[in-house]
Amino acid sequence: MEKPVYLDYNATTPTDTKVAAEMLPYLQAHFGNPSSSYLIGKQNKEAVERARAQVAELINCQPEEIFFTSCATESNNLAIKGIAWANSDKGRHVITSSIEHPAVTEVCKYLSLQGFDITYLPVNQYGRIDPEDVENAIRKDTILISIMHANNEIGTIQPILEIGEIARKNKIAFHTDASQSVGKIETNVDKLKVDLLTIAGHKLYAPKGIGALYIRKGTRIENLIHGAGQEKGIRPGTENVIHTIGLGKACEVALRDFKQNRHNMQASRDRLLDGLVSKIGSRVYVNGDLANCLPNTLSVAFEKVSAHALASFISSEVLISTGSACHSGETTISSVLQAMGLDFRMAAATVRISTGKHTNIEEIDFAVETIVDAVKKLT
Ligand SMILES: Cc1ncc(COP(=O)(O)O)c(C=O)c1O
Repeated sequence: MEKPVYLDYNATTPTDTKVAAEMLPYLQAHFGNPSSSYLIGKQNKEAVERARAQVAELINCQPEEIFFTSCATESNNLAIKGIAWANSDKGRHVITSSIEHPAVTEVCKYLSLQGFDITYLPVNQYGRIDPEDVENAIRKDTILISIMHANNEIGTIQPILEIGEIARKNKIAFHTDASQSVGKIETNVDKLKVDLLTIAGHKLYAPKGIGALYIRKGTRIENLIHGAGQEKGIRPGTENVIHTIGLGKACEVALRDFKQNRHNMQASRDRLLDGLVSKIGSRVYVNGDLANCLPNTLSVAFEKVSAHALASFISSEVLISTGSACHSGETTISSVLQAMGLDFRMAAATVRISTGKHTNIEEIDFAVETIVDAVKKLT
């Protein structure tokens, strides 16, 4: 077993071995520009198009509806600003939630400075949005609804299909940030009834620096950057061929191993929770609703134990993250936990533990032992 045991897969994942092998030849030997008409150019173009088809297959869309970007943040920017700018003649109202990643909320804040009106919907104690609140927030000038598929901190899965039906009935574009859900739960764009969906490569065993945006055919969108015609002019610039190939392969592997990965992530997350509860008992509080949660995510507070103290105490043995930020001795709790109504004490005691597709029993048992020991010492 390698130490420290990594249990922060919602932060990022390692590049899958098969993904790395697929990328390698394009680092040196196959160096052509996909826009060139000679053979090494065409080979690169074909590789990019193969990757596009692999991504499309995972989320059940047409390859021409996939646009490669540099990351999920860029995909969210393209989706939200792109829809806002292309449809501002129809209206300037956007609906989102109070628990989105900054890659959505900061874009919305920027739009509000540009004269757009943003509604931030509340969530219940489990971090879930009520679709009825979405319906009630719709106005004549609403042009976009952007609600994340699953939350990065607590793992809560939103009722995307129900919201999608509401959006469709009202003819409003619907975007979901699926950075955390792709590869972990089903993300079929037709079943979810979404018009735009964000993918983050490095959360599903592709390397960092690559993302994608699904844009349903017929969606009115404006590009953020201007240049030559790559990605049908929606996201121009010479393609990041190597990373695009990586994302394609990662999607192929994710689709092939979907059931097995999901089962393993969930079995290890559940074993971890069972271990903690059996040894620490009633001092363990789970945030969110495990029945409606990503299979790999556990947001948990240990009564009277500072999350920062715990994470740093065990960091040479086990890597986890916290639900709060600590700068110059001051603790700021996460906006997600605040929106769920957690009090400061519990939010400051919250850690996020997220398992991966290869997390094994030995690692989990070691993590339980390490955390339990630390909680006892820090109490
Ligand atoms: C839900 C969600 N959206 C967007 C992002 C941003 O991803 P990136 O930093 O790769 O652009 C993250 C990363 O943690 C995320 O969890």
